[in-house]
Amino acid sequence: MKIEINKLKKYYQNKLILDINNVVFNKNMTYCIKGRNGSGKTTLLQIIANLMLYDKGEILYDNKLMHYEFMKDITYVSQNPYIFNGTVYDNIYYPLKIRKSDASKLENKVYAYLEYFEIDHIKNQLAKKCSSGEKMKIALARSLIFKPKLLLLDEPTTNLDIESIEKLKAILLKIKKQTTIIFVSHQIDFINAISDKQFILKDTLLEMGEKSV
Ligand SMILES: Nc1ncnc2c1ncn2[C@@H]1O[C@H](COP(=O)(O)OP(=O)(O)OP(=O)(O)O)[C@@H](O)[C@H]1O
Ligand SMILES: [Mg+2]
Repeated sequence: MKIEINKLKKYYQNKLILDINNVVFNKNMTYCIKGRNGSGKTTLLQIIANLMLYDKGEILYDNKLMHYEFMKDITYVSQNPYIFNGTVYDNIYYPLKIRKSDASKLENKVYAYLEYFEIDHIKNQLAKKCSSGEKMKIALARSLIFKPKLLLLDEPTTNLDIESIEKLKAILLKIKKQTTIIFVSHQIDFINAISDKQFILKDTLLEMGEKSV
């Protein structure tokens, strides 16, 4: 999915947070957004995910304004992953079930991702009791299973151990040719491994950073 941002402004209580004139995220490219704490990275991802309102401008999804039909092709993994009541398994399975119908196929996918992220041994544990890294893996599994056309990841590596970061890197490298990925990260190695282009958010502006691959 191609994303085009035009003349976007976002304020929090009269304070300008984002002022983005024109930026295009091309289809099936992987972009990193860097920037200091509080620079507006999460706000921007949430706006693109259609989870937050903006004050001026427009965002085009494949050259069209947001429509609820596009939402099923977009997944967003928050910096503090949202966890539902229920088990680890439920947390991954139920959102899938709502979107699609073939239950048996979905179950296999859930098990594959539980194994891939090595959280199969806790599948029956209450997800809200999981550790921070485990919660991130739940959220990642949930978002990747959909095979989104647009994948938005907010600091996905923060609570992950080294092996898990490698696994995430591998899976993103595998899907990046079929998915537009926009992610926020501070980890240089991870950024350089997966991004095609980098942006830096600074003083409300989104500027092109160094090209990494
Ligand atoms: N709901 C809100 N009301 C008022 N101010 C807010 C709100 N949400 C965020 N802010 C402020 O807007 C600015 C941008 O916040 P945002 O969370 O987008 O930054 P960030 O770049 O993601 O930071 P971090 O690297 O710490 O995650 C910050 O100064 C924050 O305090
Ligand atoms: Mg943030």
